[in-house]
Amino acid sequence: MSKTTFSIIKADVGGYPGHARVHDELMEVAEKKLSESDVLINYHVTHCGDDLELLMTHREGEDSEKIHSLAWDTFQEATEKAKELGLYGAGQDLLSDAFSGNVRGMGPGIAEMEFTERKAEPVVAFLMDKTEPGAFNYPIFKIFADPFNTAGLVIDPSLHPGFRFEIMDIKENKKIMMNAPEELYDILALLGAKGRFVIKRVYPKENSKLPADEPVAVVSTEKLYQVAGEYVGKDDPVALVRAQSGLPALGEVLEPFAHPYLVSGWMRGSHNGPIMPVSQGDAKCTRFDGPPRVLSLGTQVKNGEFDEPADLFDDPAFDNVREKSADMAEYMRRHGPFEPHRLPMEEMEYTTLPEVMDELEERFEEL
Ligand code: F6R
Ligand code: MG
Ligand code: MG
Repeated sequence: MSKTTFSIIKADVGGYPGHARVHDELMEVAEKKLSESDVLINYHVTHCGDDLELLMTHREGEDSEKIHSLAWDTFQEATEKAKELGLYGAGQDLLSDAFSGNVRGMGPGIAEMEFTERKAEPVVAFLMDKTEPGAFNYPIFKIFADPFNTAGLVIDPSLHPGFRFEIMDIKENKKIMMNAPEELYDILALLGAKGRFVIKRVYPKENSKLPADEPVAVVSTEKLYQVAGEYVGKDDPVALVRAQSGLPALGEVLEPFAHPYLVSGWMRGSHNGPIMPVSQGDAKCTRFDGPPRVLSLGTQVKNGEFDEPADLFDDPAFDNVREKSADMAEYMRRHGPFEPHRLPMEEMEYTTLPEVMDELEERFEEL
């Protein structure tokens, strides 16, 4: 059987209100556009905060012109609707007027994985708002490399060999393959610097029962401000993770989100704050435009088809995490403009801070 590709392509093409969430009519435009396509096997349109998310399955492989142009046209049409409705920041993430075969580097975020379907194929989509691709380093590392998170790494012989990590240096535009558990400390030396080194993909090892060249997890790593050369919006990331039978169990995949770890990108892309795992209904950003949220949708893929995704954080088991996250948000907020709530100077994405510094420059005297 030919391989299946699962693609998430997402963009912020207008918020309602402000940068809080996506207007229902934008999702209706996308829903209609994708329903008319004959290249998709199935799709699901949703949003996380102000990001319009297209989840699609097909047989076209990664980086397919057909799929990318379908997504691009969908975002264009949604932008038209956003302008008509006077939504906030209409077309914000569409950085180019002309589509040239691939949306990579044009603004939208992409996580795509082509794989041979197993007898039963659980796939989990994670959608984040008000943060950056490096926000996935902590959970993806824990899922595939931390035995305190993933019991299977210790007790399931098929997970025991570990996994291979493809890590990108998003400043230098380079990548490196690293092995866990053999290189754990070196992997963490990179991944802890999450503004620079980000996990792009995870692969099985050669001796795994899964094909070693087919990814088991993928993260969108587009950095909008580097694409545009100046700040134009945020690079709110998405990821796909396959689970079970030789891979981490669904519960091991969700477990890292039981800790509301700190991520950057809150308010004006310039603050650190706790991630909050939420249900679809709460996937909107309110307090101080946040706190940063993560939504998790799980499904089973069969011959490329998938059913209405399950809303995995819509669960009282995550209530205490949300409460803790809200408490942490409060704690961080009390710091106001002070680091480490505010990001370090060199990471301020778009602010007047450089201008303030320029203006004060001549008033500084040598000591
Ligand atoms: C956008 C975001 C928001 C905005 C803030 C200011 O995703 O994170 O916090 O940065 O609302 O937005 P503008 O400059 O559009 O008024
Ligand atoms: Mg927005
Ligand atoms: Mg967003």
